[in-house]
Amino acid sequence: MSSTPCSRPAAINRRSLLKSGTAAAAALAFGRLGRAVATAAAIPQVRLNNGVSMPMLGFGTYSLRGDLCTESVADAIAAGYRLIDTAKVYQNEEAVGAAIKKSGIDRKLLFVTSKIWVDDSGYDKAKLAFQETLDKLQLEYLDLYLIHRPRGDVNGSWRAMEELNAAGKIRAIGLSNFDPAQYASLMAAAKTKPAVNQVETHPILQEKVELATLEPATVRMEAWAPFGEGRDGLFTNPTLQTIAGKHGKTVAQTMLRWHYQRGVVAIPRSSNPAHRRENLAIWDFQLTPEDMRTIAALDQNRSLFPEWT
Ligand SMILES: NC(=O)c1ccc[n+]([C@@H]2O[C@H](COP(=O)([O-])OP(=O)(O)OC[C@H]3O[C@@H](n4cnc5c(N)ncnc54)[C@H](OP(=O)(O)O)[C@@H]3O)[C@@H](O)[C@H]2O)c1
Repeated sequence: MSSTPCSRPAAINRRSLLKSGTAAAAALAFGRLGRAVATAAAIPQVRLNNGVSMPMLGFGTYSLRGDLCTESVADAIAAGYRLIDTAKVYQNEEAVGAAIKKSGIDRKLLFVTSKIWVDDSGYDKAKLAFQETLDKLQLEYLDLYLIHRPRGDVNGSWRAMEELNAAGKIRAIGLSNFDPAQYASLMAAAKTKPAVNQVETHPILQEKVELATLEPATVRMEAWAPFGEGRDGLFTNPTLQTIAGKHGKTVAQTMLRWHYQRGVVAIPRSSNPAHRRENLAIWDFQLTPEDMRTIAALDQNRSLFPEWT
């Protein structure tokens, strides 16, 4: 995909994303002729506010551990995923690192994200935690490093991350689970604007206010739990089933396409190889404006993970 400068107005961002999806679809059509199911080239990229390109679709690793994690991530890379999302608190950075090694892929082709946990907040601890993360992943640098939750000394953590960014150890720095007020408070003392805010978002919690705040601020929204982990019957939601049926797609693909058309990066997780491939095949159809309005109406502005708040 052509890169999408975040400084452009929202409407242009979305149009460019849609346009670039067409090129990606061509790459996928190749897949139907019996070649690779989805090539890395098929995943559109978005240009973050510091110029770094990030895939619009990636692979989540929450709750995947040990051999299952290594096998799942290695297979995800083989299937065409290039963005891998991990975190210290998932206790799987070593397994993700082993998968990257096993895949044999050129490091430069990957976009690896990890996150600093609450216990490691503050300038000194953040620096130590970052090095530990790199060591576990067996990497020399990260593409994206996030403050996992807005707790503790986030200003100290951010200062450490700014320095690591300037030193070339992290290509982009960002936040996770920050609301607009927490974002504004951090920015009052920050030199660098976050490139990304990773938040819970899916059809039941659409975070429209957050999106409306982030987009003009050129902070890219990234969806964790893009399927809401299937809670509240999302995979069998009749409205989503109708829209999916109309396009000859699955509900999972419809949800991922919806994220993409909103300009939101999604990182679905799957321990099932068929699901992993299904989730990559979203570039050959387009939700209509009416489909988008119908899905917008499913919003209940309600978290499906109240136990985490
Ligand atoms: N920053 C944060 O605070 C935070 C919090 C939570 C998660 N995350 C990140 O976001 C990622 C995604 O969120 P998540 O893992 O919680 O949930 P999710 O991606 O919304 O849902 C994962 C569930 O969806 C199922 N699934 C995947 N593809 C499917 C398909 N095509 N058809 C039917 N079912 C399908 C998976 O089952 P199968 O395994 O059977 O396919 C799994 O049970 C995480 O892995 C993690 O990297 C970040």
